[in-house]
Amino acid sequence: MKKLTSETLRNMYLDFFASKGHKIIPSASLIPENDPTVLFTTAGMHPLVPYLLGEKHPAGNRLTDVQKCVRTGDIDEVGDSSHCTFFEMLGNWSLGDYFKAEMIPWSFEFLTSEKYLGIPVEDIAVTCFAGDNDCPKDEESAKLWEKCGILPQNIYFLSKSGNWWGPAGATGPCGPDTEMHIIRNKAAAAKLGRYDFEKAPAGTFLEIWNDVFMQYNKNAEGAYEPLKQRNVDTGMGLERTLCILNGKNSVYETDIFEKAIEKIESLTGVKYGQSEDITKAFRVVLDHVRTATFMIGDTKGIAPSNTDQGYILRRIIRRAVRYGRNIGLPQGALKDVAQTVIDKYKGVYPELLQNSARVCEELEKEENKFSKTLQQGIREFEKVAGALSAGGIIDGVTAFHLYDTYGFPVEITGEMAREKGLTVDVKGYEAAFAEHQAKSRAGSEQKFACGLADHKEETTKLHTATHLLHAALKKVCSPDIMQKGSNITEERLRFDFNFSRKLTPEEVAEVERLINEQISLNVPVEMKEMTLDEAREQGFTGLFESKYGEKVKTYSIGEFSKEICGGPHAASTGELGVFKIAKQENVSAGVKRIKAILVK
Ligand code: ALA
Repeated sequence: MKKLTSETLRNMYLDFFASKGHKIIPSASLIPENDPTVLFTTAGMHPLVPYLLGEKHPAGNRLTDVQKCVRTGDIDEVGDSSHCTFFEMLGNWSLGDYFKAEMIPWSFEFLTSEKYLGIPVEDIAVTCFAGDNDCPKDEESAKLWEKCGILPQNIYFLSKSGNWWGPAGATGPCGPDTEMHIIRNKAAAAKLGRYDFEKAPAGTFLEIWNDVFMQYNKNAEGAYEPLKQRNVDTGMGLERTLCILNGKNSVYETDIFEKAIEKIESLTGVKYGQSEDITKAFRVVLDHVRTATFMIGDTKGIAPSNTDQGYILRRIIRRAVRYGRNIGLPQGALKDVAQTVIDKYKGVYPELLQNSARVCEELEKEENKFSKTLQQGIREFEKVAGALSAGGIIDGVTAFHLYDTYGFPVEITGEMAREKGLTVDVKGYEAAFAEHQAKSRAGSEQKFACGLADHKEETTKLHTATHLLHAALKKVCSPDIMQKGSNITEERLRFDFNFSRKLTPEEVAEVERLINEQISLNVPVEMKEMTLDEAREQGFTGLFESKYGEKVKTYSIGEFSKEICGGPHAASTGELGVFKIAKQENVSAGVKRIKAILVK
């Protein structure tokens, strides 16, 4: 086996397939194009799906690349020797061109030839598809392997659960595959029958490459229909292959992370590998900073947020901050670690260099934001956890509070809970979260309910005048008067209310007088937040019902007007000028309309 650096392995793979007539294409973005079902590109084939289904690729029908991938299913596992959220996949594709008879000998050549990886034949095991109702047993691949020189006892057959590749559960191109493994424990392997591969003790084999023979499309009914063309889709994990070739125990000990480890060591004075906890913390920082760097630095770069890709990014940055603190990584250091990532990869992914300022800025911003609440949040967590006995459950509302107030993604709270033998009620958390969202929506609807066209100064003054009008109409015409509609521009207010007739000239004069009296008294407009129940008890008028029992904003103008309202308002009535009713209109039998203005 050859000891290779990541740069050599990448180039060796691409050169090998270029020599077999493949065009080298650049990695696609980490953010999938036109695919709302997944957040990130998860495999080399992912951006090529349209071409696997039959569309013509501009570069031809033999392609090879190194694809940036992110898989986020196992974020909490990152810290052990093998899990990474980001990885590079070396791959090559036949789009309706060559098939098994070419691919298997090429795989064999690349793996065993001294010119390439130089792996001894007797160290390689392969698995082939065992066959089922959807697709026959893949004797052809097994024969091809044997012809190449793979020892017959090292050729295994596996069912769909092991030797089938396709987008999990979803629709799309798929097919049986043949996987290549390095035999780590020859004695254990020797005891296995041809169908016993999955019974091998852990660590007997290490998977290195996967050749998929893509001949089917899984349709929406879950049936496998033959594709128009037979494709080959292969994938070799760069980090894992490096780790195996170089005899390392973990991907973190390959050249990929060398400079980043040195950086963390110099920033913390702590040595990688000193203890299990230290190693884990290093690995979390190494993996998460690398992933965050690639996500932010992508051609379609993303930023931390509370939804979708942005939330995953936020979660991994915050997890890195938490673990970084455990080894004394100072605040603001994530961007220094990111710089080593950019340096390491800039030749392969020039977008990282182009976007390096953005990477540092976003990392720093997110780190600062979380650092402000991290210690307090940990204290709050300790308090909650301390009150529970082993096996206890942190309730959903508390978990949401830790997120909303201290910025702890629920997965981080879950991880902290597990460290103490506790769990989190994730369903309860989701319910609390949904309730919060409903409240925020209600809050923003509340703003529109006031009918303001904009938040300009004049519009705002007319909004305050509308409250005065509402209160005056109640006093002059009927206490039952309620707002039926409101529309305010910077020129005039328009107020609809339930009343059976037009106001008499005397009533109009009295309404104007009352309002202008309040204006001349220069009464401050006061805002207070309270629950809807409290607001009702204190005599505020509600313009709308709310299901959620959330806090609402209330505005009072002395005792004259008290309304639940989203604002904005003038600071005090003195700003308004002279109130004048301009027009009365009939909206319907029971609803009348007043248009009014403020004269300076
Ligand atoms: N698409 C195949 C994989 O990801 C090659 O393993």
